[in-house]
Amino acid sequence: MSIQEKINQYTEEINNWTPHSQQEVENYRLKFLVAKGIVKGLFEEFKNVSSEEKRLLGKVLNEFKQLAEARYAETKDLFEVSADSSKDSKEQDLTLPGPGFEIGTRHPLSLVRKEIVEIFKKLGFIVAEGPEIEDDWHNFTALNFPEEHPARDMQDTFFIRKQEGNDIALRTHTSSVQVRMMESGTPPFRAIMPGRVYRNEAISARAHCFFHQIEGLYIDEGVSFADLKQTLYHFVQELFGEGTKVRFRPSYFPFTEPSAEMDISCTICKGAGCNMCKYTGWVEILGCGMVDPNVLTNSKIDAKKYTGFAFGMGIERITNLKYEIKDLRLFSENDIRFLRQFETETI
Ligand code: DAH
Repeated sequence: MSIQEKINQYTEEINNWTPHSQQEVENYRLKFLVAKGIVKGLFEEFKNVSSEEKRLLGKVLNEFKQLAEARYAETKDLFEVSADSSKDSKEQDLTLPGPGFEIGTRHPLSLVRKEIVEIFKKLGFIVAEGPEIEDDWHNFTALNFPEEHPARDMQDTFFIRKQEGNDIALRTHTSSVQVRMMESGTPPFRAIMPGRVYRNEAISARAHCFFHQIEGLYIDEGVSFADLKQTLYHFVQELFGEGTKVRFRPSYFPFTEPSAEMDISCTICKGAGCNMCKYTGWVEILGCGMVDPNVLTNSKIDAKKYTGFAFGMGIERITNLKYEIKDLRLFSENDIRFLRQFETETI
């Protein structure tokens, strides 16, 4: 067979060739492209033809070589993945355990919120929530804030929309949920209201533009300050351990009368004096008081018939005492090294 005839035959073979496996591609390479393969062989033969034939055949032979190489280049990667995976699947041990899911850890604020909620649930408190975008009425006016109260100042509140007589803002405390709760029905009310609140503050280790609170409300006939003290005393024993002391200091909030702030004996030094309690032995954990009759009236509750108490605490503050996390920014930075230190969520 002449070189030309061979080239014609192989060209047809290559053009009709459709590989079905990596092995067939490899066989192709061994047949055409290796040192002892067909392409090299044809070039060897080519050396022996007359110079007249060389002129005619040279171009054809080179084109054949290019075709043979191009077909290989096109097909050599075609089966690599599937060929490998089919090989793998034969070798896979199906009894091996799967890769598994990495279960996250609960955020420390969620852990503490959960703990607080559980304690109050056992006392018959339900959990209620309200909107984070709140109007002036629920955040301030109904809660007995005087018109010119500094808390309404632009510096503290993130206003969303200034509206004639009823601004829209991000709530500055969860006390707004008290009002929504009382407006929603008739006493008795016994609820705790966890949620995020916002204040226009520069972010630092000790202040943040958002944080979390838990509000408490108990309204019924004949509720007294003794009930307030007993409830909060019980709460502290449950959360911080038996023997934790409490004390109430007179204070002022527009929505309670009388108002108080509650301190507990320092959980770190047990009252001996340390950095956390600024060497006083006491740390403040919440504000509380008897709901001001004006607030009841504003919320359409008969203030002659019903009395009640309310309290509000910062979850960050409690978490700070429980875990000694002193920089508030850690709570929202989502640094995995920080978060991983806390309890693994159980599903
Ligand atoms: N709303 C208050 C604050 O953000 C906390 C508070 C104080 C809530 C006394 C109350 C309360 O319900 O009775 O600082």
